[in-house]
Amino acid sequence: MADLIYRPRRLRTTQLVRDMAAETRLSARSMIQVYFVCEGKNVRNEVGSLPGVYRESPDALMKSISNDVRLGIRRIMLFGVPEKKDASGSGVLRDDSCVNQTIKRLKDKYANDLFVSVDICLCSYTDTGHCGVAVDGRIDNDRTIEILRDMAVLSAKAGCDCVAPSDMMDGRVGEIRNGLDDEGFTETLIMAYSAKYASGYYGPFREAADCAPKFGDRRSYQMDFRNSREALKEVALDLEEGADIVMVKPALAYLDIISAVRAAFDSPVAAFNVSGEYAMVKLLAREGYADEKQLVIENLTAIARAGADIILTYHLRDILKNGWLDE
Ligand code: PBG
Ligand code: ZN
Repeated sequence: MADLIYRPRRLRTTQLVRDMAAETRLSARSMIQVYFVCEGKNVRNEVGSLPGVYRESPDALMKSISNDVRLGIRRIMLFGVPEKKDASGSGVLRDDSCVNQTIKRLKDKYANDLFVSVDICLCSYTDTGHCGVAVDGRIDNDRTIEILRDMAVLSAKAGCDCVAPSDMMDGRVGEIRNGLDDEGFTETLIMAYSAKYASGYYGPFREAADCAPKFGDRRSYQMDFRNSREALKEVALDLEEGADIVMVKPALAYLDIISAVRAAFDSPVAAFNVSGEYAMVKLLAREGYADEKQLVIENLTAIARAGADIILTYHLRDILKNGWLDE
């Protein structure tokens, strides 16, 4: 017999030991399920590139969310997909937009039993598909953040608990915080997409939210994936401007960024397990190349292990439906 003092395998002998010694634990309490709201009545269309994800009209979405609440979902993120688009994305300033209608109905029904966060951005509402107002082919930062501020105030009036600006304009968190506070919404949270990278993994989302840019790309506002120090700077600025939660996005190719942000700041860190990451898992599982549960739990555990306190994901419904958290 080998004369070994250290046998790390002892802590791996049985499931009971492994569960006891595990350093990272996943919980549905730290996960946010993502939804797409469109206009109309009784609409529920599955997104081709995202099996199990739908674009739903407010009435249909109320039913889906009611089923999901029964499964145990308590935290959600809404993306609006309007029919009409124009140069300045003026649809975001309608208090009867499909998203604002949905927020009102959800808060009437669930009050504080459901945490409702809403995306703040123009790209589904502009005819250019850009996250800001285009002037002579460039995205006008300062005009955009005023519109985003007003959009956020309207969502707060509709009753949402949290606004999540995903546009990557400079100064929008401060502008939104001031706008909310001026109107008395001092308790509305801001979850800022602080380190949002220009990523190929958003492809399926752009189909779902009908927001692919009509010219150019988003690299004049989203971050360059060669940079990590810049992420710390973006996070620091958003926190100074009043962000409550900072986000890194995407998640899986950016675990180093999540971990660096976690180490450098004390605020809660969120990570967005984006559409392309979800679609990859679904494709591997559908082809029989991998086990879906194993991939989902491995991916989400890696995101949590890197330091994310909060995970936005399309997988939460499947996780709860199938009991994959086994707790
Ligand atoms: C747009 C936005 C995007 C996502 C969230 N908000 C796409 C983009 O920036 O092009 C991506 C989410 C996902 O891929 O799941 N502001
Ligand atoms: Zn956008």
